[in-house]
Parts: sequence; C-alpha cells; structure tokens
Amino acid sequence: MSGRLRVGVLASGAGSNLQAILDTVHGHEADVVAVGSDKPDAPALGRAVAAGVPTAAFPAAEHPDREARDVAMATWLVERGAELVVLAGYMQLLGSAFLAAFPQRVINVHPALLPAFPGIGAIEQALEYGVKVFGVTVHFVDEGVDSGPIICQRAIELPGVTDAAGVRDALRPIEHELLTGAVRLIARGDVRPDPEHPRRMLVRGA
Ligand code: GRF
Repeated sequence: MSGRLRVGVLASGAGSNLQAILDTVHGHEADVVAVGSDKPDAPALGRAVAAGVPTAAFPAAEHPDREARDVAMATWLVERGAELVVLAGYMQLLGSAFLAAFPQRVINVHPALLPAFPGIGAIEQALEYGVKVFGVTVHFVDEGVDSGPIICQRAIELPGVTDAAGVRDALRPIEHELLTGAVRLIARGDVRPDPEHPRRMLVRGA
C-alpha cells in the first residue's frame, strides 16, 4: 500500500476530467484504483484502460433497478479499496444505497456556480437566463441534485458568449484545475466541515 488516497472515479462520457486526474494527481497525492461507468462504451473507460486502471460498466439494463445498480457499483468500488469517489461527468443520480457506502466521500464537478443552475443542461440554463458570469463548482454529493456542501468554485466572465460550445470550451480547463485541486486537498486532509456550520467547508490554504 502506498499510503496515498485511493480514488474511484465514475464517468459517463468523454472523460477529460478523468484524464486530468490521471495526468496530475494519480501516482502523486492519490491513486486512481477503479473507474466505473453506466455506459459500457464511454470513452472514459478507454482512458482508464490506457492508464492501467481497472474498469467496470454498470448499464441500467443489467440491474433490476437503480438501487441495485448503485449497490453493485458501491460494492465494486469498496472491493477495489476506494476511499473517495469522484464523479467526473457521471450523468446519473446516486441514491442513499450508494452514498451510505461513502459518507461525505463522494465529490462532483458541475459546470455552473451553484446553487444557480443545478441538474442537467446547466450551461444551456445559464445561457437561456442570459447570465454574464459563468463558472464551475466542485461539491460533496448528497441525495439532492447538486445540493451538497461546496468545496471550491471559480467564476469566469463571458459577457458576449451566445453558444453552449463556447461556454463549455471556456469552462473545461477550469473544471480540470478545480477537480484535480479538490482531490489533492482531500488527499492532504485539507478539507473539513466548519463545526459551527457543517455545510460550510473549511479549506486549508484557501
Ligand atoms: C463536465 O462538463 C462536467 O461538468 C459535467 O460533465 C462533463 C464531463 O466532461 N458534469 P468529461 O467527460 O470529463 O470530459
């Protein structure tokens, strides 16, 4: 055992956030020990294989319901020794059966400044609203939709932007930096709840 934080990642899509973790924190502050997906053909799984990280797919069709799928995923991640679970573009809700296996140990990256624009289509929601400032949030996952305690956020002014692809391109490097930074902070034990106000996270050095 390396003594480094053991991280499981769940991803549904391209996996650029997973890649950022593999390229920067993997083998340093943390070890990515498992990458799972709800989509057997997710490019993210290929990135994990290329990095020599074990993968598994948990398609809905192979499980009687969402809870059974959650339990299967949690069991696999626990077997792999994951201590922290990172949702890196995992596009399914996780229920209490999963979260109970990793209490306050699941984090997510969201392409908006929460609590504005939670859920799917956050960038499209923000554009529709006509905001001038966009951003990224990394937060702990609770049973709500993007409602858990916030670890870090960063805003970016994009006053002239009119298309989702432009916003996505501007946010992607911020996502990579914040998400890898959050994994690093957690690995170093630098994130803890404020005893006076437990949903406020105290981040050492922030
Ligand atoms: C990111 O925009 C993330 O905010 C959202 O899903 C996307 C995942 O991108 N939750 P990638 O698969 O990491 O490239």
